[in-house]
Amino acid sequence: MSGDGFETLAIHAGQDPDPVTGAVVPPIYQVSTYKQDGVGGARGGGTGPGRWIEGYEYSRTANPTRGALEECLAALEGGARGFAFASGMAAEDCLLRAVCRPSDHVLISHDVYGGTYRLLDKVLRDWGVSHLPTAMSDPATVRRALRDKPARVIWVETPTNPLLSVADIAALAEIAREAGALLVVDNTFASPYLQQPLALGADVVVHSTTKYLGGHSDVVGGALVVADAGLGEQIAYLQNATGAVGGPFDAWLTLRGIRTLGVRMDRHCANAQRVADVLAVHPKVAEVFYPGLASHPGHEVAAKQMRGFGGVVSFRCAAGADEAVALCGRTRLFTLGESLGGVESLIEHPGWMTHASVAGSALEVPADLVRLSVGIETCEDLLEDLRSALGQR
Ligand SMILES: Cc1ncc(COP(=O)(O)O)c(C=O)c1O
Repeated sequence: MSGDGFETLAIHAGQDPDPVTGAVVPPIYQVSTYKQDGVGGARGGGTGPGRWIEGYEYSRTANPTRGALEECLAALEGGARGFAFASGMAAEDCLLRAVCRPSDHVLISHDVYGGTYRLLDKVLRDWGVSHLPTAMSDPATVRRALRDKPARVIWVETPTNPLLSVADIAALAEIAREAGALLVVDNTFASPYLQQPLALGADVVVHSTTKYLGGHSDVVGGALVVADAGLGEQIAYLQNATGAVGGPFDAWLTLRGIRTLGVRMDRHCANAQRVADVLAVHPKVAEVFYPGLASHPGHEVAAKQMRGFGGVVSFRCAAGADEAVALCGRTRLFTLGESLGGVESLIEHPGWMTHASVAGSALEVPADLVRLSVGIETCEDLLEDLRSALGQR
């Protein structure tokens, strides 16, 4: 399948018709255990979904539906191996515990997702892993931070949640290689359709599959894809040892979402660009954050490394924080809610909602910030909804 295009891989990788029944999509193997071929010998595997799976004995270790998803994820990101977890945070925790030891240091984007910051600041710190928020959009700052204190991991989100800042993955990969650090890219906002970090030199890709990969706001999940099979072995060991795997139905839903990822992302990008263009000239909006705007400081890097600029647009309300909160309650189609990446549009106030965990830290977001997850509804309807909520028709 390696020569096939993205949309072909999304529909076929790991998803051969079921060998027993011919079912054209992978069945939900809702099963915890398997009849074994003999004592100490697992059942099947090897040729089924999840090509690296040696056999089935217990579904925490391997499950055919999860295996199909893992194989598809690896193909879409161009990696040696993929892993599916119960959530994005479970994937992050597994990766950091696989590669870090007490006294290791992690550089993180200075506006990294609040949950990632909380994991490092409130959980892994007690296990002796330190971290430093760093401006990843400036490679010189990253080099300086590494000179001051060598890091085991450089953890980059691009574009970031919720401020949409952009980092040059290829430049950071070179810096990581020179420094002997692992470059991890959280590719949740872009999805593999828009951006493929491993091809740009990253070592590991992280996803909250809850977002664009699942795409329908009906399943929570996470993923890791690694470039190196050896690191894949370490992660496979820890995934089984710590057990935060996604269930078969969750894997099946995520895989169903992935089959339409390309066409959904095209529409998310087109709608978001129009929303950003309208907000950029709106008198009640002080500042718009969207990498598709030529005025965005990361626009050129984003244009170089992404196929499109994504579906999330953030903006600051000119009238301040109270108006930002009030606005979130005035939209009709943009539903007030956390998360993003589903087909339906969402609106939220990051300071009080998704990013409340970074309040008072170096990562605190502006109180007048509103984040939109622009869905794939009719764009004119979305624009009308925003104009009316902002109070100017
Ligand atoms: C960029 C990013 N990474 C990771 C996560 C965590 O994923 P999950 O909520 O699936 O645990 C999120 C969740 O919003 C996210 O936005």
